[in-house]
Amino acid sequence: MSNIETLIKTLVEKHGKTRNSLMPVLQGIVKEEHFLSEEAMIAVAKELDLSAADVYGTASFYTFLDTVPRGKNIIRICKTISCHMKGKDEIIEALEDVLKIKVGETTHDKKFTLLTANCLGWCHKGPVMLVNDEVFPEINQQKAVEIIEGIAKASK
Ligand code: FES
Repeated sequence: MSNIETLIKTLVEKHGKTRNSLMPVLQGIVKEEHFLSEEAMIAVAKELDLSAADVYGTASFYTFLDTVPRGKNIIRICKTISCHMKGKDEIIEALEDVLKIKVGETTHDKKFTLLTANCLGWCHKGPVMLVNDEVFPEINQQKAVEIIEGIAKASK
């Protein structure tokens, strides 16, 4: 059995073999693998007795379920109106500069992927950056760069 099949079996055992387990199982895979491969989606469909189309549909609906390979750390900058008005573009520019990538890309060392996201529910404290599961409200260019540099150092 491949690693991904073993992971899926473990996740299905944990969450149960029902349709309601689809999201937690997919999230569990993204957490471990950093993205959802086609192989993984097909294996999940088999394990949960769903159609592959069902699984693809769910995965593409939720932007948090990445279906292309990503870096170890996923940076998401909220692009919705409040954060936009509070200067999310400047934050994105600063991060693009320091990481030497554009939004949607992954650094060569696979440490970081830079993405935008829809409202993260922290609108009163924008602009907001999410790194993996951690929320950083009220950031500015300098803070954003410091946070990312800190993570880069810690994961050396
Ligand atoms: Fe950015 Fe809501 S608009 S968190």
